[in-house]
Amino acid sequence: MLPSEVLRATQAITNEFISEELRARFHEAKNVLVLTGAGVSAESGVPTFRGGGNTAVWKGMPFEVISSAGMLARDLPAVWEWFNYRRGLLEKLKPNPAHVAIAQWQDRFRNFALVTQNIDGLHQAAGARNVIELHGSIWRARCFDCGAVHYVCELKFEDGGSPACFDCGGHLRPDVVLFGEMLPTGAYENAALQAQDCELCFVVGTSAVVYPAALIPEVARAAGAYVVEVNPERTPVSGLCDEVLTGKAGEILPRLCQKPDR
Ligand code: APR
Repeated sequence: MLPSEVLRATQAITNEFISEELRARFHEAKNVLVLTGAGVSAESGVPTFRGGGNTAVWKGMPFEVISSAGMLARDLPAVWEWFNYRRGLLEKLKPNPAHVAIAQWQDRFRNFALVTQNIDGLHQAAGARNVIELHGSIWRARCFDCGAVHYVCELKFEDGGSPACFDCGGHLRPDVVLFGEMLPTGAYENAALQAQDCELCFVVGTSAVVYPAALIPEVARAAGAYVVEVNPERTPVSGLCDEVLTGKAGEILPRLCQKPDR
């Protein structure tokens, strides 16, 4: 089979995956929520944490250890070193067609909520507004003492140390939710409220094992929404979804706006 035929076959399968029912609901919906995870940024080159049977490791430490409240208390410079490494990876990366499609949806639906677990800022780089960042942002830092929030690009890092707050001189930490920490005040509550009101909920590129983010599809489902998962792999929420689109977000999401090939 020639490469072009393979491509067409793949596209045809993807299209067929998008049911007439989903197309109809997509075109009629007024209230839509999208929950995203690391997988939506995979096609931009952002390494995911899980999926494909692997989990991320840093200097021999599982990422759950280096990205934990315990590590923050024990070795703040090491935590900064990890996030500086992740930020270094991200600086060169661009949004992919999945981010672009989702950003376009915000002007398509009367009420649109974008809830992300990602800290990479690629949704915003694609033009998304009012993103509910459940796990914070790698581009910001927060002061332990006065709580001031600063952009990392404005900070000075002395010899691998941790940067100081230029409001109070206190120690700054990445403005990211670490394992063992609470989410930013109101972030989950706001997302859950939007999930209760949505009629169409997309779950895109998340392994759905981290809580409370993984509760969002359940809240939407319980409120009667049509729930759609987009992921190359099955996850713990696949079973509660009305439709599971198995594949890459960057290949599938843009097709939702397209008329189906007859
Ligand atoms: N399109 C859609 N989904 C994809 C793609 C893709 N191109 N590539 C991979 N995936 C899927 C994987 O199959 C996996 O199910 O994305 C998921 C990524 O899962 P994780 O790496 O566990 O990321 P996430 O669910 O966002 O993790 C939740 O855990 O690590 C912490 O704080 C971190 O926010 C993160 C949270």
